[in-house]
Amino acid sequence: MKRVSKAVFPAAGMGTRFLPATKANPKEMLPIVDKPLIQYAAEEAVAAGITDLIFIIGRTKRAIADHFDKAYELEMELEMKGKTQALEQLRGMLPAGVNCIYIRQAEALGLGHAVLCAEPAVNDEPFAVILADDLIDAEPGVTKQMCDLYDYYQCSMVGVQPVAPSETGAYGIVAGEPMSDRLLRMQHIVEKPKPEQAPSNLGVVGRYVLTPRIFHHLRRIERGAGGELQLTDAIQALLHEQQVLAYRFDGTRYDCGSKVGYLKATVEYAFKHPEVAEEFSAYLKQRLCPPE
Ligand code: UTP
Repeated sequence: MKRVSKAVFPAAGMGTRFLPATKANPKEMLPIVDKPLIQYAAEEAVAAGITDLIFIIGRTKRAIADHFDKAYELEMELEMKGKTQALEQLRGMLPAGVNCIYIRQAEALGLGHAVLCAEPAVNDEPFAVILADDLIDAEPGVTKQMCDLYDYYQCSMVGVQPVAPSETGAYGIVAGEPMSDRLLRMQHIVEKPKPEQAPSNLGVVGRYVLTPRIFHHLRRIERGAGGELQLTDAIQALLHEQQVLAYRFDGTRYDCGSKVGYLKATVEYAFKHPEVAEEFSAYLKQRLCPPE
């Protein structure tokens, strides 16, 4: 039985919805309170037992590698100033034994192409794909939930959640045969359908576990929705030869690729942050319900 030990983090998109913040920095480096999105994603992978983190980086290539690199000078400075808490936080960012691999996607040709760029590092193994701009608050994390399912079913699966009919054009939409409360055997997946053409209300959000056979299909797909090489199209081809599941995960997802989703996540995570929760809640309360 194969277990999932590798995760791919596509982070080479253009991030046009967040310009100018994403001009020199990938959107995956935007912080929610004090941690960049990519770090939440890496922690979710590590909590699922994943040991190889494969980052697909683009135009703004240095930021993510710099973030996960050891920062000797900064650590020395913090040590000298006795800032032990900050130092421990930096040192404990990723546990020992976790490897970071960086692969360049020279041109943003689409999510499918970004995942294909990971093939030399993934080889012939099952792997997770985590889109860091879909921040999902869940316990256990959604990647752990899906890796546990992979252990049992040994097949590809995508994370889904119900979306409003007016929003189908922003998602991959799946249709399938229910297997249980949260699992569907997928029969069909289509990228960004119009509401009247959507086969269901279940939209794919940024969590996948894929068998390496997906690379065979990624090499063959043509440009799809938006003129991009779409992972959805390769999954549609895969499900003709292998079982693919859709998993309605347990958790709250924030679309941090959009400004409003990002702001919602910031507020919710601030409410839970031990350092700022109290003061921030008092501020919001006063702001929204000012005293007469
Ligand atoms: P999005 O569809 O959110 O696109 O990508 P985007 O370019 O990042 O953002 P907008 O729509 O222009 O604002 C989904 C995920 O796929 C990655 C992105 O980094 C994001 O995590 N991606 C997308 C790539 O790595 N490469 C690509 O060519 C496209």
